[in-house]
Amino acid sequence: MGRAMGHLLMLWVAAGMCSTSLGASAWSVNNFLITGPKAYLTYTTSVALGAQIGMEECKFQFAWERWDCPEHAFQSSTHNRLRGATRETSFIHAIRSAAVMYAVTKNCSMGDLENCGCDESQNGQTGGRGWIWGGCSDNVEFGEKISRLFVDGLEKGKDARALMNLHNNRAGRLAVRASMKRTCKCHGISGSCSIQTCWLQLADFRQMGNYLKTKYDRALKIEMDKRQLRAGNRAEGRWAPTEAFLPSAEAELIFLEGSPDYCHRNASLGIQGTEGRECLQNGRSASRREQRSCGHLCTECGLQVEERRTEAVSSCDCNFQWCCTVKCGQCRRAVSRYYCARPAGSAGPRGRGKDSAW
Ligand SMILES: *[C@@H]1O[C@H](CO)[C@@H](O)[C@H](O)[C@H]1NC(C)=O
Ligand SMILES: *[C@@H]1O[C@H](CO)[C@@H](O)[C@H](O)[C@H]1NC(C)=O
Repeated sequence: MGRAMGHLLMLWVAAGMCSTSLGASAWSVNNFLITGPKAYLTYTTSVALGAQIGMEECKFQFAWERWDCPEHAFQSSTHNRLRGATRETSFIHAIRSAAVMYAVTKNCSMGDLENCGCDESQNGQTGGRGWIWGGCSDNVEFGEKISRLFVDGLEKGKDARALMNLHNNRAGRLAVRASMKRTCKCHGISGSCSIQTCWLQLADFRQMGNYLKTKYDRALKIEMDKRQLRAGNRAEGRWAPTEAFLPSAEAELIFLEGSPDYCHRNASLGIQGTEGRECLQNGRSASRREQRSCGHLCTECGLQVEERRTEAVSSCDCNFQWCCTVKCGQCRRAVSRYYCARPAGSAGPRGRGKDSAW
């Protein structure tokens, strides 16, 4: 950005702004530092919305993992000690950068923003046999530019962590591009579909979340001189990229440090631990991740699975009454929920009391 840096505008997106636009969401984009030339001020709501979408997707993807994508992971500044340079950090950067690009692109296609719209640059041209470009292609170029500007703009350093974050931001944006699919509409005499018009459309954001979760599972660790890493901010520009930075790795997530133990609470690392977390048992339509949640969160972390019986109220015995209402009764049924609990008699020094809220 060079000279433009002089005109940088720094803006803290207030928590209030997001909670009003996003209703009762427990989330906020509090402390999400947004920087960018003044001309881009109009995009801040889209950017903030994108950050929100990214956080929610992260929560969803990690719902049954020991690290459950806590809110503070998004809010701490990039060089915060709590954030580290772990595999989890790499996911946060990628999903946020992708979500900002996604939200801005969607706003462009909806005509919400002044300086962008659909990508119609190819409309009218033949795309392939039996189809021509037409309609509203999502304009990812523009969304990508805004994501670069705002999200990459958060990285002030030139050290290894900053390079790692920038790499993962970019990998996130590549995930958005990779999700684009051709969507077509038939034309021709009585729907014969002799000719189609097609446009490129972004997938649902869930698909990008799934894709990046896979990238997370096989993220690449970059080996570095430990002294450089410990020097943190001050390891300015002393990082020789390794072979992982060949173009073939550009879509991969990378990290520098091994992950800490997420089983046990460690306040100084901002880790909550898995005690008190809910897990799923006997879920009929459960995914593999859900099925192994009790083992992964509880027993493998030295905790017990505790069953708690609660009552659920739902409508039942509904009758249709002439005319035209439906009358229902209320049924109560016992449901079991499962939680990770410390085995009896082993309350550790930092153990949370039985009666404390979690
Ligand atoms: C962007 O899209 C979201 C979701 O459709 C909408 O709530 C928001 O108002 C849009 N932003 C602008 C600037 O119109
Ligand atoms: C928290 O983690 C740090 C770094 O791994 C470790 O040195 C420290 O002993 C841990 N603290 C507790 C209370 O477990």
